[in-house]
Amino acid sequence: MRKITVIGTGYVGLVTGTCLANLGHEVTCVDIDEERIDALNDGHCPFHEPGLLSLIKSNLLEKRLRFTTILKKAVHHAEAIFIAVGTPENEDGSADLSYVKSAVQNLSPYINDGTLIIIKSTVPPGTNQKVREWMQSDSGRTFHVVSNPEFLREGSALHDFFYGDRIVIGSTDNNAGRFLEDIYSKINTPFLQTDPLSAEMIKYASNAFLATKISFINEISSVCGDLGADIEQVAQGMGMDSRIGEQFLRAGIGFGGSCFPKDTKALVQVAQETGHPFKLLSAVMDVNERQKNLLIDKALKRYGSLKGKHVAVLGLAFKPNTDDIRESPGISLIKRLQKLGSIPIAYDPVVKNIPYCAVNNSIHEVLSGADFAMICTEWPSISDLPLDVYENTMKEAVLFDGRNCYAREDFEGRTIEYHSVGRQPYEGLITN
Ligand code: UGA
Repeated sequence: MRKITVIGTGYVGLVTGTCLANLGHEVTCVDIDEERIDALNDGHCPFHEPGLLSLIKSNLLEKRLRFTTILKKAVHHAEAIFIAVGTPENEDGSADLSYVKSAVQNLSPYINDGTLIIIKSTVPPGTNQKVREWMQSDSGRTFHVVSNPEFLREGSALHDFFYGDRIVIGSTDNNAGRFLEDIYSKINTPFLQTDPLSAEMIKYASNAFLATKISFINEISSVCGDLGADIEQVAQGMGMDSRIGEQFLRAGIGFGGSCFPKDTKALVQVAQETGHPFKLLSAVMDVNERQKNLLIDKALKRYGSLKGKHVAVLGLAFKPNTDDIRESPGISLIKRLQKLGSIPIAYDPVVKNIPYCAVNNSIHEVLSGADFAMICTEWPSISDLPLDVYENTMKEAVLFDGRNCYAREDFEGRTIEYHSVGRQPYEGLITN
């Protein structure tokens, strides 16, 4: 059992702190946001993440987990301090490290000799060194700074924490590395110890590679659509090659969230600074922007104008099992629909309201009266919706599916018109 402090109760900090407490450590999570800390102490989770709330509650009850705004108290007894504050995007696409810097400088006066500083926030290569400098300028004590990137997917974060593929420990100090291995010793996941720069690079390169895989399959889907091939069959056949792997080959209306768009841009920026323009990644981002327009482009082709059309937008979160709408393709779609004079109304099982248009948590109500529907997120309540519902609820059942939730065979003999990604449209049986 170790005494651990986590700075930042955003997505990464809260998941990390709670899971570490669940491993038996004594964890204090610190944040400057008083309202958030009060809510957490009352057993409320600030975002939707399956399983997290009950883990917070049980660890609060066991007194292994604490939330506070008082940094001094939290840092003073800590053997290890995880930095998990945000690294938002600067205007030029680079990562803004000001929260990391101020966290480090604020804790610096209070830490004990030998305390381990662990960088969890996603940061550009070279940050570990900077953190050491920021610390050194403020204190004369010894400490080690370890880079320990996170690989938590929103919506599956608990699973990814306890059953991840690897734990990367970026440190040149073997004792620091062993200390971190000890913290994670109850998790049966392989460790990889690297130098700090390489650990930082592993995080960026992994996210950028996954984003590349998605843009690649989306490019293939466009060719498939033009040729008349079926992207689902193509992706299946590609994925059966173990060198390629089946994951992250789902064609759709693009990747969103707080990580892929931000991290790919930041890596482009890092590469630019080293004098190597990362053309491949720039293309990955361009493809993603284009992909977000796909459904509306299809609808424009189908209808000519979308002015005055009532559009049921199904799914607002950037992916299922989260209430996160950051960089969500569904939100860009709504904004563009509005520019085109349409009247969107959205359904999402978890996102309750957005500043852009009305949100209703009854999918039936959203569909009734709509001229057409557009699927943006493959929530089970959307992807499992029987096709009868569209046929019986909508004026004219026309569905644009941005996540290929249905198989084309599902439409045989049906009146619903179906447009999807990288597959031939189904025109629907004409009745009477
Ligand atoms: C991603 C990584 O998967 C995590 O390993 C990483 O730790 C995290 O970023 C981070 O840097 O914090 P996340 O953004 O939560 O996790 O979600 P993903 O499941 O990776 O999905 C990202 C986006 O890609 C979603 O919009 C999803 O719809 C899209 N996607 C994913 C596709 O369009 N096709 C696919 O085949 C897979």
